[in-house]
Amino acid sequence: MITFQDVFFSYPIGKQERLPALRGLSGEIRKGEFLAVLGPNGSGKSTFAKLLNALLVPESGEVHVFGWDTRDSSHLWDIRQAVGMVFQNPENQLVASTIEEDVAFGPENLGLPPKEIQARVEEALRKTGLSGQRRTDIHALSGGEKQLVAIAGVLAMLPSFIIFDEATTMLDSENRAIVLDAVRKLREDHGIGVVLITHRMEEAVLADRILVIGNGEILLQGSPLEVFSLGAKVRSLGLDLPPMLQLAELLRKEGVSLSGTPLTVSEMEGALQL
Ligand SMILES: Nc1ncnc2c1ncn2[C@@H]1O[C@H](COP(=O)(O)OP(=O)(O)OP(=O)(O)O)[C@@H](O)[C@H]1O
Ligand SMILES: [Mg+2]
Repeated sequence: MITFQDVFFSYPIGKQERLPALRGLSGEIRKGEFLAVLGPNGSGKSTFAKLLNALLVPESGEVHVFGWDTRDSSHLWDIRQAVGMVFQNPENQLVASTIEEDVAFGPENLGLPPKEIQARVEEALRKTGLSGQRRTDIHALSGGEKQLVAIAGVLAMLPSFIIFDEATTMLDSENRAIVLDAVRKLREDHGIGVVLITHRMEEAVLADRILVIGNGEILLQGSPLEVFSLGAKVRSLGLDLPPMLQLAELLRKEGVSLSGTPLTVSEMEGALQL
């Protein structure tokens, strides 16, 4: 479990001044949970993500990962292994020339015995469906496939949580689907907790819980249904409604009768009684 209590963080700008990025965040992320984090540009989402695996530490307040205080540098490696990160640009995350070598990079840096490295690479490739392409040149891959390799690299560290910081933003819809499917499997088949930072509401509706951050504070949280049922409030925070909910609005304006609050395509089918 990850807990954060009264977390404040600011960035130094110039000699004297600091820019507040997070102002008093508190909460927890449970093991195996799928949390979507939403918020306008500059609201503090990436800063929050970096505090969850000790890339940054709180200025005041505390973050604990499985009880380890992120400010306690003696547990830095435990924390980094327990909470992996996948970033926006797949190009910046890959270090080796073949898939297999890239996935082995993390465990090699842990100084594990070769047999253990081999086993972890096998397992990570299997979980991401990359086993058949182990010797493929990274440069030959699509953006989505590169993100899969980045995910496999994180998996080889045996994390309990993976944070995706806009990891689908640069991908086309086909590659986005590949990555989202991998995210689903991580949770459903392997019990790995997922924190998905996204601007795409059709991704957010897949989560167990949504956290909306604005100006460094938690403004809303709840299930996708609870959050998006607030319609106008969500829009006032600078966020879109999920596409299916926007469609429902349009259809209702046209006089189509629709039941409930459809967030996904299958819920829309239900609402239209197709
Ligand atoms: N390295 C830095 N130095 C100074 N200010 C920073 C730095 N990184 C972020 N900031 C500022 O901190 C605030 C929060 O930034 P952050 O990157 O966490 O937002 P975000 O919600 O991830 O935005 P985006 O949706 O654009 O990715 C912003 O005002 C940003 O300009
Ligand atoms: Mg960001």
